[in-house]
Amino acid sequence: QSEQAFKGKTVLITAGPTYENIDPVRFIGNHSSGKMGFALAEEAASQGAKVILVSGPSQLKPENPNIEIHRVTSASQMFDEVFKYYQNVDIAIASAAVADYAPKVVASEKIKKNDSEFSIELVKNKDILLQMGKEKQNQFLVGFALETQNEEENAKGKLEKKKLDMIVLNSLRDEGAGFQNDTNKIKIFTKDEKRVFDLKSKEEVAIDILNLVKEKMKL
Ligand code: PMT
Repeated sequence: QSEQAFKGKTVLITAGPTYENIDPVRFIGNHSSGKMGFALAEEAASQGAKVILVSGPSQLKPENPNIEIHRVTSASQMFDEVFKYYQNVDIAIASAAVADYAPKVVASEKIKKNDSEFSIELVKNKDILLQMGKEKQNQFLVGFALETQNEEENAKGKLEKKKLDMIVLNSLRDEGAGFQNDTNKIKIFTKDEKRVFDLKSKEEVAIDILNLVKEKMKL
């Protein structure tokens, strides 16, 4: 019988990439598969949580019946979906790879090949996690940082700026970490602590993250 530490708790998790449409056939996306977020959802649910999983496009399907899946496509849809639930959850974990920019105009017809150069004007998307930090009441808020340089400094900056209780850093410089892989290598920062973990399966990484959440929340 698994430990039921999250019994009675509702956990909101974002997962996967977002797709920002350019025209009816093209989009700006990224390499997130959703594996990290879905692993967190399964683990939290197996420990008794009710999970609200807001996922961008992903092939994955949740298995535990205590996971409620909400599928979205774009960052702005993910924003709207998250804030339907955010005020009523105990824990929120933002593992989605959300696009920072989206095309200013989405062409209604397929863009034709014409000039030798072509540019798309982009506008900044709203930062979902930043807004969660601003609207935080009693939620325990966990963010992710995916970095390629100045990793620790950037992660600690996001911890503070987005008013997080915890940030999970994965670096694309570590082999087997980040997008698509079945494994990840993380460091976790809280206000006053840093923990370093070995390369592990995303299922095991999810356990490590949730163990630290339990420790900090005294569950
Ligand atoms: O899905 P997988 O293939 O398993 O890959 C997992 C992962 C690499 C996507 C995951 O482990 C991860 O690192 N997710 C966060 C990726 C990311 O977008 O990091 P960031 O440093 O750009 O963003 C920082 C935080 O702000 C993240 O928690 C992100 O969800 C959030 N954010 C960012 C932009 C935005 N507009 N809204 C947000 O909420």
